[in-house]
Amino acid sequence: MYPIHANQPIGIFDSGLGGLTVFRQLQAQLPQESVIYLADTARVPYGPRSSQEIEVFVREIIAWLLKCRVKMIIVACNTSTALVLERLRAEVPVPLLGLILPGARQAVQLGQRVAVLATAATVKSGAFQQAIQEADPRALVQVVACPEFVPLIEAGAMDPLAPQHPQLQRIVAQYLAPLQQWPLDVLVYGCTHYPLLEPLVAQHLGSIPRVDPARSAVTAASQELKVLGLTHSGPARYRFCVSGNPRQFQRVARPWLPPVSRIEQVRLPVVQPVPPEE
Ligand code: DGL
Repeated sequence: MYPIHANQPIGIFDSGLGGLTVFRQLQAQLPQESVIYLADTARVPYGPRSSQEIEVFVREIIAWLLKCRVKMIIVACNTSTALVLERLRAEVPVPLLGLILPGARQAVQLGQRVAVLATAATVKSGAFQQAIQEADPRALVQVVACPEFVPLIEAGAMDPLAPQHPQLQRIVAQYLAPLQQWPLDVLVYGCTHYPLLEPLVAQHLGSIPRVDPARSAVTAASQELKVLGLTHSGPARYRFCVSGNPRQFQRVARPWLPPVSRIEQVRLPVVQPVPPEE
């Protein structure tokens, strides 16, 4: 029997620092909740990987978070959500929340021509197209794979105080080019790393609204905690952990991290791959 109490932390994970956009929302909306954040930086990016590989990684991360006795897990990685979340939900003894459905619902409230920027694996899965059309069957969806964003962001290319990185600017222009021909109503950041590029995207899209699914996902998490009677009254405590190099993470993620004394390096439990269903 897995014990669940209000004073346990919420687990948040991503392949890297992108999930900090979700942590930031959680800190704003649920400042009394404690968080354990895990970035699988030893294996970032997830976007070019297969669903079998990602399933093994996600199983390992969930096993580790459960050892830390989390009361809920927010999958702050749309690639993991798109490829494996539904398959794992029934096996996990705590609520497992993703960002794709909340993001889709938020987007269709702003218009019917919806563009989504996402990783190659998320685009290939069709998860956003499906979620948006379920949220509004009249919606028209265009998805754009942006494979170069995550490696550049993880390497430290995005500095919020000086967002003029020429290579990033060129790639943002290149990925947004197909959307310039299309009268889109709303753009969804379909990867948790991408809201960090907002200053660069704004230069191209001007007043076209952008959706960061983190906001509505955290609202959904908050409602779920209330329904389950698991709302914590604080004080909040935060732990930030990585599977890769903690110093590299601290250096690159500093602008989006709260003042933390240290980043912990963790060893993830080894989980054997589950054979594919017949
Ligand atoms: N930030 C993740 C996502 O939302 C993963 C990106 C990656 O590792 O490629 O998809």
